[in-house]
Order: sequence, then C-alpha cells, then structure tokens
Amino acid sequence: MSSSSDHPAAGSIPPSSSSPSAPSSPPSVRSFGGGKVGAPAVRILGTGRYTPEKIVTNVDLEKMVDTSDAWIVERTGIRERRVAAPGELTSDMAAAAGRMALEKAGISADELDMIIVGTISGDMPMPACAAFVQQKLGAKTCPSFDLSAACAGFLYGLTIGERFIRAGGVRYVLVIGVELLSRLLNWEDRKTCVLFGDGAGAVVIGPNDGDGRGILSTHIFTDGSLAGSLFIPGGGSKEPVSQEVVDKRRHLVHMEGQDVFKAAVRNLSSASQAALAANGVSGKDVDWVVAHQANLRILQAVSQRVELPMERFFINIHKYGNTSSASIPIALDELLGEGKLKQGQLVLMCALGAGISWGSALIRW
Ligand code: ACO
Repeated sequence: MSSSSDHPAAGSIPPSSSSPSAPSSPPSVRSFGGGKVGAPAVRILGTGRYTPEKIVTNVDLEKMVDTSDAWIVERTGIRERRVAAPGELTSDMAAAAGRMALEKAGISADELDMIIVGTISGDMPMPACAAFVQQKLGAKTCPSFDLSAACAGFLYGLTIGERFIRAGGVRYVLVIGVELLSRLLNWEDRKTCVLFGDGAGAVVIGPNDGDGRGILSTHIFTDGSLAGSLFIPGGGSKEPVSQEVVDKRRHLVHMEGQDVFKAAVRNLSSASQAALAANGVSGKDVDWVVAHQANLRILQAVSQRVELPMERFFINIHKYGNTSSASIPIALDELLGEGKLKQGQLVLMCALGAGISWGSALIRW
C-alpha cells in the first residue's frame, strides 16, 4: 500500500508557525509559453461564473469536525464556501459559466473552435468533462478536452488557447475552470475539508482588434518532485477503486498543507516576477492582481515579495474558499461585475496547485 511518503517530496511537515516561511528562489526562465508573446494577438472577449446556491459557513463546519470559525478565518481568510446540490454535476456548473461568458462575448456556441476545461473533478473518469459541456452548450463538433493542472488549470488552458489562436486556424476558444471538490473531500479531515468550495468560471478568448490590448505573456511550470504534497492517491491505475481504497479514504484529497503553502509563496512570487520581467514592467505598474484564491496569507506573502500592494489584489476567498481552477475566472468576472476593472489597465494573474503546477499571465485589459 502506498502512502504520501512514497513520494520524494512528501517528507515531514515542518514545525507549525502562523506563517510558514518560503525560501526565496530566482524566477525560473524555463517554461512552455515562457515570456512575452509579442504584440498581443488574443484577448478575453467575455467572462462568466457560476457558484452553487448552498452556502456552508465555518460555523456549519464546527459541527462536523474539530475546528473553529476563528481558526479558519485567521489561517486562511475563508468564511464560507459554496457546495453543489445533490445531482448537480461539474459539467452543469461549467456549462452555466460558459454560457454566461459566451453571452457577454456576443459569440454563439456554434462559433466556438475549441473548448478547454481545466478540472480534476469531472463528471466521470471518461469521457472528458468538456464533452458534456460541449453537448450542454450545443457547440457542434469543436475539439473539447480536459486539462489536469488542478488549481493552475485555468492558466494552463488560457496559455494553450492563446497559442492555438495565435497559430491560426482557431478563432474562438472557451476556457473554463471548474471544480466540484466537495465530492472529493474527506469531510472528517479538518486539514482539507475547510479549505475548498465548488464553482465554475469561464472566459471566451479570440483575436484582438490590434489596439494593443490582450494577453501580453503567459508562463506555466510544473515540478513533479512535489507531486506527493497534494494528491488523490486512489481511483487511478496505481490504486484502482476497491473497498480498501474507499475504506481508507484513498479516493479523496490528501494534502501536506505546509509544503503546499511554501511552494505556493515561492512559485507564485517567481511566476509573477517572470511575468513582470518579460514585459519590462514592475509591480507598481500593475492595476489588479487576480490570483488563485487559496489562502489569504499566501497572497499577503506574495504581495510582500513582489512588491504588489495588497489593495491591488482582488479578494473573494472569504465567500467561496478555494475553488481551485475556477477561482481566477470567478474572481475576474466579479471584478468586472463590480465595475472596477477599466479598459487599458494591467492585470496580473497567478495560480498554483497540485502537480505541483503553477503559472502567471499578464493582460492589458
Ligand atoms: N481547524 C483547527 N485546527 C486545525 C485545522 C482546522 N481546520 N487544520 C489543522 N489544524 C491544526 C493542526 O492539526 C495543527 O495542530 P497541532 O499544532 O496540534 O499539530 C495546527 O492547526 C497547525 O497546523 P498547520 O498545518 O501547521 O497550520 P498552517 O498554519 O500551515 O495552516 C493550512 C494550514 C491552512 C492548510 C495551510 O498550510 C495552507 O493553506 N496551505 C496551503 C494549502 C492549500 O492552499 N491547498 C490548496 C490547493 S493548492 C493551492 O491552492 C495553493
């Protein structure tokens, strides 16, 4: 039987502190899609989001596990999260967000050339969640596939979609981040169940009109040596579904929280610095940081390291918890909905999740 210690990086958790420190490292320069993509050729044409109606508060969780509202708020910034209704599917949430993004972009589903769904919690192991999303949107036969990069799934999808459009032959791509993690959590494990929430966010990307707005750069990275810090060990080829796997909760999320915390601070900082350096700008030039909402303390540490003032970070983690790949597009749609993001402003995105995989994007809005 394997355990997290099978993985080279899943060693012992360092002593607890209120803010695990992360060793600094220079920004990596090796990444697919690394650096500036030239004059922006692709921009976001529409955004959408969907979050389930049901709210689970920290106080609700106090009745389920040995935790407290005060601990969760102090350590994470989370106050409540959304949980999908019984029968509600990942593809339902993804299609709802996608429909809204299409509507705002003024694009019909049959104009889509590609659908990319960043998710690790699709409707079923096979086929791709994207196939169900395509069917629900009525998007004809455009290639539709899932992308497994956990919380970095949206930025991976944005990078790939941007490259396809830039290469030609593809005009409109729907990029969705969606996660229904409430069905993959061990609700008896206070170290994980308090962190996550369900939701979906989406963008439609397409060619810009040559006005200099759009995606300026993307950077994506993976460090597989840290695969054991956040994973679902059972249910795949290594530990196929069995009664034992289920009894031992191996089909649910396992996490070494402090390892992930330190990797997040280190790599979100370096990826953000890489985005700024590739475009010859500094933190002072950034108007909005739309970062993956995993933990408020992670974002505060990144803010300090990259010299990005906290007031530039759009924060909604208190309402939704960590919605993994959905968190950036949900936050972007909310930021726009609140009328805060203006044309011409500079937006920095960064995310990190299981893999570990992470990345950044810089966008002239
Ligand atoms: N309620 C109360 N106590 C808790 C809870 C809880 N929900 N969870 C853990 N504790 C206890 C621990 O058992 C420990 O007790 P002990 O000292 O008696 O052993 C104590 O609190 C401190 O635990 P730590 O793990 O050291 O707490 P930490 O300050 O590291 O916070 C947290 C834990 C919030 C998980 C943090 O490490 C974190 O956010 N890590 C990143 C995880 C993450 O975001 N994962 C999402 C996917 S990846 C991503 O999105 C970036």
